[in-house]
Amino acid sequence: MSQATPSTNAALMERRSQAIARGVGQAHPIFVARGRNAELWDVEGRRYIDFAGGIAVLNTGHSHPEIVAAVKAQLDLYSHTCFQVLAYEPYVELAERLIALAPGAFPKKALFLSTGAEAVENAVKIARFSTGRPGVIAFTGGYHGRTLMTLGLTGKVAPYKSGFGPFPGEVFHARFPVPLHGVSVEDALQSVEQILRNDIEPTRVAAFIVEPVQGEGGFHVAPKAFIAGLKALADRHGILLIADEVQTGAGRTGTWFACERWPVAPDLIATAKSMAGGFPISGVIGRAEVMDAPGPGGLGGTYAGSPLGCAAALAVLRVFERDRLLERAQLLGERITAALHAMAAQMPAIAEVRGLGAMVALELCQGGDPQRPDADMTRRVIAEAARRGLILLSCGTDGNVIRILVPLTAEDALVDEGLQILGDSLRGLQ
Ligand SMILES: Cc1ncc(COP(=O)(O)O)c(C=O)c1O
Repeated sequence: MSQATPSTNAALMERRSQAIARGVGQAHPIFVARGRNAELWDVEGRRYIDFAGGIAVLNTGHSHPEIVAAVKAQLDLYSHTCFQVLAYEPYVELAERLIALAPGAFPKKALFLSTGAEAVENAVKIARFSTGRPGVIAFTGGYHGRTLMTLGLTGKVAPYKSGFGPFPGEVFHARFPVPLHGVSVEDALQSVEQILRNDIEPTRVAAFIVEPVQGEGGFHVAPKAFIAGLKALADRHGILLIADEVQTGAGRTGTWFACERWPVAPDLIATAKSMAGGFPISGVIGRAEVMDAPGPGGLGGTYAGSPLGCAAALAVLRVFERDRLLERAQLLGERITAALHAMAAQMPAIAEVRGLGAMVALELCQGGDPQRPDADMTRRVIAEAARRGLILLSCGTDGNVIRILVPLTAEDALVDEGLQILGDSLRGLQ
């Protein structure tokens, strides 16, 4: 039942606390009334610049008119049949488009699901079926979702995994290379080999799963030499390489898939988030013979690859092509990176600025010392920025990284306004 009096954020927060399970976190005590491209307005009429994009979902901005129109047109035709009952062309067309975009000179196939976690789950299922092996090696600091398998793969305990185990077996964590924290590519590759010696024999490992840029883990970019080394190990032992592109995909990093920059193609790619501009759909794209391993009925889901998600995703691809958003991601990334470097030159607390394309972050440490992550300052900067009208998100295993995921469709002037607020908020708390 709606309330007769106009809602305030405080009143809605109170209702939320009474009705919604505590485990569903909320970064900001704000209720949204409407959004347009990179701007939002709350229920009290306050305007915000959105550098969070619903956690990397809005590369094409809030309610992009063409994507909304495509979904409305689809709604007028049919909203659901379940692809496993009665098929529809947009699903097939979307698969054809993504297969053409995915790297690797080999035949590929795709399937669609609803969430990022489901895409990762399905990539693992397919890898297991195809290899006949159970093991999966993931990486420290990696994040793969909130279902039990993807939590098992996730390499951060609090708040994701604590209290939710046991997780599926045969999952191991190697070290992700993070030079700032003293983990080199060699250290990381050695840790994979160590698992293959100490924990599980290579012939029982189905896949390595890695994010091209760790998202929740703190925007650490997987170095090319690390991927090349991982692929060499994979090839030596008949292990598949899965790229979790749920956060990096759909043009965020300047190519449609971040793994297009890899020296080798992954066997399977999990994709979701921005691929449909805010409508829930995810997918797995991969080597045709691997994708075809599970038999009919082994894959799918009631809402998997919903017609609305397919229509939205096809519209996103049209917008990307017409508005050259991949180039835009690269330029925007350079603009943001330059501004963050300028802030870092003045503020010792910024230990590092890093990222790929328009997936950029800064890491805050006491005195700039990587051994002293400053989660408290990060929280305060984010709260201060929100007070000044900028929505930011943190990330990182120690919660001390501020990430920028502004829509690629945002005007330069708006991005600059947001960066100014970020700079002012940082300076104000120094
Ligand atoms: C790299 C990565 N994988 C998987 C997921 C899970 O996606 P979802 O929340 O849509 O299930 C996320 C979500 O943030 C992610 O960043």
